[in-house]
Amino acid sequence: MFITFEGIDFCGKSTQVKLLKEYLERKGKTVKIIREPGGTEISEKIREILLDKKHLNLTIETEILLFSASRAQLVREVIQPYLEKDYYVLSDRFHDSTTAYQGFGREIPLAFVKQINNLAIGNAVPDLTFFIDIPTDEAERRKNKNSLVELDRIEISKNDFYERVRKGYFYLAEKEKRIIVVNGLHDISTINNEIITEVEKFEKF
Ligand code: TMP
Repeated sequence: MFITFEGIDFCGKSTQVKLLKEYLERKGKTVKIIREPGGTEISEKIREILLDKKHLNLTIETEILLFSASRAQLVREVIQPYLEKDYYVLSDRFHDSTTAYQGFGREIPLAFVKQINNLAIGNAVPDLTFFIDIPTDEAERRKNKNSLVELDRIEISKNDFYERVRKGYFYLAEKEKRIIVVNGLHDISTINNEIITEVEKFEKF
């Protein structure tokens, strides 16, 4: 089963990926966690280019193609082989991030984004996607609280960028049945329980 986690930066998805992994392992399942961009030697190098704060002149076209190149490699080198071995593959971000960030955030026409996404992911469409939603002012609050964490090239973006990204996620959630919207303001264990309930409903175990 292939499960992805989405949301604006600081929504708490990485914590939820870890908690779901622990739960599935307690149930005796084998789990592979990945994060995007990254996850293969080539994809990690692309991640460095993408997130480097010195690369302020990176064009939006280069940006979408690099995110997608990183993903194309990850799908063929890691995701497909692990799914074939019946692993639960949990991904911290996937192609919905490209629609939300590059399509809505950077305003690249959605027709292009769709084509690029299709090429990059092939048959690897997630079975379930959790969109952990928080308002942008909450993201801002969490960002400032974490002032010791160094922000990457995208995290330094302004609030109106994140408003568009969030709108993009809601647009996707309306269209795609696999996307479940989770209130990211709830406490960590409530969110974890909601996610477990949905996975169990899907898997019927
Ligand atoms: P992370 O902070 O969740 O590791 O993600 C890195 C940043 O890259 C985050 O700000 C979201 C952004 N991103 C995109 O803009 N497009 C994408 O397709 C992906 C996967 C991430």
